[in-house]
Amino acid sequence: MRKTKTVYVCSECGASFPTWSGRCSSCGSWNTLVEDRPIKKSDGYQSINRNIPKPRPITHAKEEKHYERISTGIKTLDEALGGGIVTGQVILISGEPGIGKSTLLLQISSNIARGKKVLYITAEESSHQIYVRAERINALSPDLLVLAETNLEAIINVIEKEKPDFMVLDSVQTVYSSNLESAAGSVSQVREVSGKITEIAKSKGISTIIVGQVTKEGSIAGPKVLEHVVDTVAQFEGERGHAYRVLKIIKNRFGAAGEIAVFSMNDIGLQEVENPSSFFLSERPIGEAGSIIFPYTEGSKPVLIEIQALVSKTVYAVPQRKSQGIDINRLAIITAILEKEGNIFLKDRDIFVNVVGGMQIREPALDLPLALAIASSYMNKPVDEKLAAFGELGLTGEIRSVHYTEHRIKEAKRFGFEKILIPSSTDIQEEGVIKVKNIKEALKMLK
Ligand SMILES: Nc1ncnc2c1ncn2[C@@H]1O[C@H](COP(=O)(O)OP(=O)(O)OP(=O)(O)O)[C@@H](O)[C@H]1O
Ligand SMILES: [Mg+2]
Repeated sequence: MRKTKTVYVCSECGASFPTWSGRCSSCGSWNTLVEDRPIKKSDGYQSINRNIPKPRPITHAKEEKHYERISTGIKTLDEALGGGIVTGQVILISGEPGIGKSTLLLQISSNIARGKKVLYITAEESSHQIYVRAERINALSPDLLVLAETNLEAIINVIEKEKPDFMVLDSVQTVYSSNLESAAGSVSQVREVSGKITEIAKSKGISTIIVGQVTKEGSIAGPKVLEHVVDTVAQFEGERGHAYRVLKIIKNRFGAAGEIAVFSMNDIGLQEVENPSSFFLSERPIGEAGSIIFPYTEGSKPVLIEIQALVSKTVYAVPQRKSQGIDINRLAIITAILEKEGNIFLKDRDIFVNVVGGMQIREPALDLPLALAIASSYMNKPVDEKLAAFGELGLTGEIRSVHYTEHRIKEAKRFGFEKILIPSSTDIQEEGVIKVKNIKEALKMLK
């Protein structure tokens, strides 16, 4: 009997090796090689079109592509995507289990089904489960076709026969191709399924949303090629047990990245929140130390978000540093800057920081409000309730400029903030805007 060969595939870059090693020699990542079965020879990616294609001058490329955009029926989501979903666009949506991915996609599918043909492929749930959800969230529609199938080849046959205008694949990790020996969800299966679905979406002009599961650390499970192959990557974030859900556009080939759409979850599904700042500010404590407002943005729409810190005396030999929604390494840097430049001694203090609403914030403009929230809790002095702050902190305590300064100031003023701390290097002169050069100057606002 022929022995089945095993290969080791890097979950970051997809390179395969005959033996395991701790480090992928192709992309340099550590501990990313996982056991997999090789692709059958007969199924190698072959060039379908043997004619030699002719390149065209860029000036003549205009009339070739006309992007028609389909509305999702959710205004803020259309805006975040740059005006709706483009024909043939492939979007990957990922998020923690139970966050509401299937709910959102069913709502979108039912909205698009008012006028277009929609195919909802479910490889995780039965069609009855989808029916029950659709009934609850009022998404029943005769033009919304449901297919409960896990085999890629069967799915492709249905797509070719039905020729939908829009389709959803929930999820890429649960579909398998019979051409491969490995189990659904393995690196080679995910690569194969996403590649084939993208190919058919592009060739037939079907706008497609693929659901991707996330790993324990919160990143998209599967090889990095999954993110490269799709046009748009969106991440669904929020705290379970809370109503807020934020869909963040991380990559977009048909619009700006960094845009967000905010939703609130209730028993009839996800409702869009048109004014997220007032939503996030509604439960804010007034006059309490350790809380500050940060005008956050990675795209054109800023949102006012509350940042909280709790600094308390430690009972452990090594003080605790815990964070929700903030990179723990960034927290360590801010803590060190506060110690060195701000005379705030945190060696015997536990520090807990939190982004209210469950968002993950990676932008450096968070540094200044985070430092002020920690200092405020340490000194037990509340930050002025009409104060908002943003700016990146350098290692010598200097406050560096960040992008979208005007947008952030405008949003803070719209909500009645009268003191807005901004980096001093910007040339904005406005009432209520306070320029700060370094962390020492910023800390004076707490005294
Ligand atoms: N009857 C209900 N009333 C209110 N909310 C509900 C009800 N049923 C489900 N939900 C909400 O819907 C969420 C599940 O949503 P959904 O199945 O869309 O998540 P998902 O991201 O697709 O999860 P998974 O990764 O497991 O597929 C639950 O966590 C819950 O908050
Ligand atoms: Mg689901």
